[in-house]
Amino acid sequence: MADINNQINYWNKVAWEKKFTHPINLPLLQTHLPLSSKILDYGCGYGRVCQKLADEGYTNIVGIDSSAEMIQRGNKLYPGLSLEVLPSSGIDYPDNSFDAVLLIAVLTCIPTNAGQQSLLTDLKRILRPKGIIYISDYVLQDDERNQQRYQHNAEEFGMYGVFRLPEGTILRHHSIEWIYTLTADFETLDLAYPEVLTMNAHRAKAFQYLGSK
Ligand SMILES: C[S@@+](CC[C@H](N)C(=O)[O-])C[C@H]1O[C@@H](n2cnc3c(N)ncnc32)[C@H](O)[C@@H]1O
Repeated sequence: MADINNQINYWNKVAWEKKFTHPINLPLLQTHLPLSSKILDYGCGYGRVCQKLADEGYTNIVGIDSSAEMIQRGNKLYPGLSLEVLPSSGIDYPDNSFDAVLLIAVLTCIPTNAGQQSLLTDLKRILRPKGIIYISDYVLQDDERNQQRYQHNAEEFGMYGVFRLPEGTILRHHSIEWIYTLTADFETLDLAYPEVLTMNAHRAKAFQYLGSK
């Protein structure tokens, strides 16, 4: 049975056609991360954010993604980056080995509470003490189109905010309470709610969380 928290077939299928535009707050990251920082971009897609950081002068970045097609596209687009396919056994970096981890529009692809909590536990393990976690993702939207699909799918998925796109994948938007719960093991340094564009070019409200271990 397909894993709802790792919908690899879908991401492989769309890997060469999707354009991701989710923004990151570079000045905020630069305040907390010197250019020599060892950074993991988890769910890096085709390496867009890794390349953005490299363009800013960061020299020690690794991108990892469970979709081999995404990584193939990234390696073609940006041959100078270190982009890797996530092993099927999961994250296997040593404890305390990164100064920062980024999760940009990845939680939305991991619909269950348990799946998200388990990922955050793994990421905390590989972060050094005082290391930085930066998460950017979607909050629950208050427009009719979104509220209808949350309601429509709530019974099937047992959670308000999880929905199925017509193109097949199952995604999640997050309540503020859940964001607090999920990040409770980190010290909050910054939390903002910017407007972003989704991968299908809809305007949406996001949250951007910066915390330290
Ligand atoms: C919306 S895209 C964002 C890509 C990139 N972070 C960006 O902002 O340009 C989500 C990415 O997460 C990856 N992904 C989804 N579930 C994953 C999981 N459980 N583990 C690792 N990567 C995952 C997908 O393959 C896809 O490349």
